[in-house]
Amino acid sequence: MPCVVVLGTQWGDEGKGKIIDLLAEYADVIVRFQGGSNAGHTLVVKGEKHVFHLIPSGILHKGKTCVIGNGVVVDPPILIDEIDALKQRGYLRDDSQLLISDRAHIVLPYHKLIDKGREELRAGKIGTTGRGIGPAYEDKVAREGLRLIDFVDEAQLRKRLELNLAQKNQYLTHFLREKPLDLEPLYEECLGYAKRLRKYVTDTSIVLDRAIKEGKRILFEGAQGTLLDVDHGTYPYVTSSNTVAGNACVGAGVGPTQIDCVLGVVKAYTTRVGGGPFPTELTDEIGTLLRERGGEYGATTGRPRRCGWFDAVVVRYAARINGLSGLAVTKLDTLSGIEKIKICTAYRLGDKVLSDLPASAEILARCEPIYEELEGWEEQIQGKRDFSYLPLAAQRYLRRIEELIQIPLYIVSLGAEREETLMLRNPFAEVS
Ligand code: IMP
Repeated sequence: MPCVVVLGTQWGDEGKGKIIDLLAEYADVIVRFQGGSNAGHTLVVKGEKHVFHLIPSGILHKGKTCVIGNGVVVDPPILIDEIDALKQRGYLRDDSQLLISDRAHIVLPYHKLIDKGREELRAGKIGTTGRGIGPAYEDKVAREGLRLIDFVDEAQLRKRLELNLAQKNQYLTHFLREKPLDLEPLYEECLGYAKRLRKYVTDTSIVLDRAIKEGKRILFEGAQGTLLDVDHGTYPYVTSSNTVAGNACVGAGVGPTQIDCVLGVVKAYTTRVGGGPFPTELTDEIGTLLRERGGEYGATTGRPRRCGWFDAVVVRYAARINGLSGLAVTKLDTLSGIEKIKICTAYRLGDKVLSDLPASAEILARCEPIYEELEGWEEQIQGKRDFSYLPLAAQRYLRRIEELIQIPLYIVSLGAEREETLMLRNPFAEVS
């Protein structure tokens, strides 16, 4: 039962798309289990750039099944655009390659209006992606959401939209001073989407159970990152889902005893989009260099990402919360040419030294990073095909990360292309 979870250990944008695409070659089924179109997984295959918001990054591999699990919130027009774009490029020829859970919830236009309207009014801005993610998850928990099973049923769709609109229009007009939405055009729009998506909708938990029993290999694809988890992240500057490994089971409908390996994707430095504390943030020329060289602009919103040094406190925390088995370090090439590279090993708070992440975002904002300094390396490293060919300083940097996190290195990514990767240990090979 080789089931591997791959997830982000920082604030998202760790380069998970590429790692998942790479490991998808060894998997039979790839599953998204949380988040929605707030995610943006970018991958470059044969020079062609692909950005996915909802469809699992494994879709570029022929013959693999891609599942959107019950824990995801699905935005129909975005999903349909993604399906169409894939088909235009010659992928997803076989529609049975994509399955959507009948229990996943739908993001509706009013969720986006509420998300944007509320963010505008909010004093301490979270900097949401404006994709309606928070309001859609709120409705799910409030038991007012619309699930795929009802979305693709004309009578249920009308009934639920009618019920929900009565309430949402009150909120939109009285609280957000927006125009109300009309039922008929919304129903017609949704009906059009439902017709397109119906063929993909099924009980995906049954599909996964069958696959596990047949000994197939399953890859669970996390979105966002551990520090954006609604319980374990830097609350309230977080997303609205659980991004951690434990939620792979809840969000896909499989039991925890099935998971064999959890791989944490770690950017060789740190980035964050949106508001919230970020102790190792660099607002100097090194921060700018990381942003420009690393192409650190959001795949979903295009916003510039805040950049900073590697923070071992953050990744050690992620190792604990997720029970990581291994690390995949990405974007090491971005650090080439920087003379001295810093790693944050702990925080200073007044006269105290903290080696664990504090629960309070306000306290974290007052923490000063304690750095150790390592030698950088001059040469470009993208073309290296073996760990031992990396400059010694780069090897030392990676080994130091491994030592500080106390989790073994499985993969090192040296560039955007599939080939620019060192696979030290393959999580699927280990559990087969
Ligand atoms: P939301 O998920 O749109 O509600 O946004 C909440 C916070 O999570 C904001 O700071 C976003 O910038 C951040 N966020 C959401 N999705 C991603 C992602 O895929 N990568 C990085 N940050 C994200």
